[in-house]
Amino acid sequence: MYEKCKKNINEENPNNLIRIVENISRYSSGDNSQPFDFVASVVEQKIYINHNQKIAKHELNPNNLTSVLTFGMILQMIEELSLAFNFSYTAKLHYLIDGKCLDKDGCWAEVSFARFNEEVKSNFFNAVVTNRLPYNSAKVNFPKMNKDIFILNKLDGKILNEVLKIDSLLWSNFKVVKDIFNWIHLSKKKYNIVKTGFHYSELNLSYFEAFFLVLLKNQFILAIVPEYFIRLFHQLKTKSVLNQTPHYICFTNKIEKIEDLISLGKEVFHVKFILANEGIVTQPLTILTLPYLFEKNFKIEKIFKYDFENFQKELKLKSKNNFDEVCWIFRAGYPKKNLPLSKRKTHVNLSEKS
Ligand SMILES: Cc1cc2nc3c(=O)[nH]c(=O)nc-3n(C[C@H](O)[C@H](O)[C@H](O)COP(=O)(O)O)c2cc1C
Repeated sequence: MYEKCKKNINEENPNNLIRIVENISRYSSGDNSQPFDFVASVVEQKIYINHNQKIAKHELNPNNLTSVLTFGMILQMIEELSLAFNFSYTAKLHYLIDGKCLDKDGCWAEVSFARFNEEVKSNFFNAVVTNRLPYNSAKVNFPKMNKDIFILNKLDGKILNEVLKIDSLLWSNFKVVKDIFNWIHLSKKKYNIVKTGFHYSELNLSYFEAFFLVLLKNQFILAIVPEYFIRLFHQLKTKSVLNQTPHYICFTNKIEKIEDLISLGKEVFHVKFILANEGIVTQPLTILTLPYLFEKNFKIEKIFKYDFENFQKELKLKSKNNFDEVCWIFRAGYPKKNLPLSKRKTHVNLSEKS
């Protein structure tokens, strides 16, 4: 009996480590840029989580702050796997140096696995997808959630106008437009090869619309197409999606230091995972809150000209809720149409040596 217990299940089945990497390599990332990759060392029973600065460099990822959120989500994926498949692990975090985030390529975490009691399954997070399409109008019965989360129902009037205004700010900053559209593919063939970024169909765009938007990466085109036309096009599209969104999940966690972003990432993934298992889909609306929080709490240069403080006041009025600040807003509802799973490049390196 003792002999049997002593034997590490992973020695019999080295696939567990590989399956964990397969599962977490489907992580969500801002703009689907996927700045992390993973090295699994079967000999050491470890997974190294590495950040790639070249890929991460993005106007909406200043000082890697958005990467930190993504990193928190990846850590929570490992936690959910450990709960579901009954294994233990420890994570040694290296992403901070003197209270500052690593700003170059590097290993952000080493995760060591100690005991596997069950076989880890593949595709465990398949239901957790970002759905950018209009949602069903049916009301959702949300499971009980933490007290730092509240739900807003359908937006209308002043608050809807403000959301539309903020969303269209994207078009006022060429660097942002360029960085976002860098990740959009028009060709399915190419997308299936590179397996990173978006295929335009995942973004609720027609080929014609996507073609036009991808052209905007060229500053010359941006200069000759009037900005108000682009904004109008975008507003019409966004308005129809927002009008078909029954709920918004608002996270109000305090975001004062970098570690708070890790906690937010963890909580967000946990919520997305629970909801996905109940058939509820979500989409983050990052621009409404995060650039403002980065600017205010992490002294990042202002990206957008807009009175975000006023927007927070409007949110307070609308929700009749006594929170300090909303840090992240997600659309939520039952899908009208399920999107195909976004393909991801599996950045996996299997290292036998330490
Ligand atoms: C930090 C962060 C910010 C994001 N912001 C947005 C956003 O503003 N709008 C959006 O449609 N998706 C956003 N996403 C979702 C990603 O674009 C999405 O996760 C990625 O395309 C992969 O798709 P999947 O979630 O279906 O696997 C964000 C994801 C993360 C982690």
